[in-house]
Amino acid sequence: MRIIEANNYQEMSNLAAEYIIKKIHHTPQMNLGLATGSTPLGTYSEMIEDYEENRTSYAHVRTFNLDEYVGLEINHPNSYKYFMKENLFDHINIAEEHTHIPNGTASNIEKECQAYEDLIENQGGIDLQILGIGNNGHIGFNEPRTPFESKTHKVKLAESTRMANARFFNSIQEVPTHAITMGISTILKSKEILLLVSGEGKSEAVKQLLNGQKNENFPASVLNIHQNVTIIGDKKALAGIKV
Ligand code: PGA
Repeated sequence: MRIIEANNYQEMSNLAAEYIIKKIHHTPQMNLGLATGSTPLGTYSEMIEDYEENRTSYAHVRTFNLDEYVGLEINHPNSYKYFMKENLFDHINIAEEHTHIPNGTASNIEKECQAYEDLIENQGGIDLQILGIGNNGHIGFNEPRTPFESKTHKVKLAESTRMANARFFNSIQEVPTHAITMGISTILKSKEILLLVSGEGKSEAVKQLLNGQKNENFPASVLNIHQNVTIIGDKKALAGIKV
């Protein structure tokens, strides 16, 4: 695992955006896995700025988001589809049909999960997956004790995750109870993974990840067996480890 330390959130975002943009220049038709949440927001805004200044083209990029809430319409301001449009897709030259996010309002969620898994595989797999990490070690919405062999599936969100995400809603009651997420094996099949971590709230999770033991109680620990993982983190998030 490579670890790149940034001084602060802004520098982490700059480094992450540069990293992704370089890959897009190298492989313009890449399959890019995306994440939502607070951590990648700065990265997306740097990508938009680069698009405005340098016209990095997303015309041949295909994106695959990690997860989506079950039950929120796509134009609900808290759906991840909406988040991605607002914070990235509407500001770069990517065709809507090249952006993929599980459909949390599908009438048959099990079928939707299988279709999403098949879609990723049929499109040749993910070249670079952007990841965040939850305080409990979740990746995507794979909460502790999710089997490492899991594929895209429906999950019941941990109360700690609903509480952490309540900041985006009017109240905790409004936070959906379920989501669709790429499974751990789906994530692990990505050719390369870029994990972004910021703030002292994540330092325990980073420490636990890097103690090296693979354990289903801490889903991110599976990253220890992947051959190509880079962590870009700010000083506060990396405070508990030696870089
Ligand atoms: P955050 O979420 O970026 O909002 O901290 C990360 C995650 O829960 O995966």
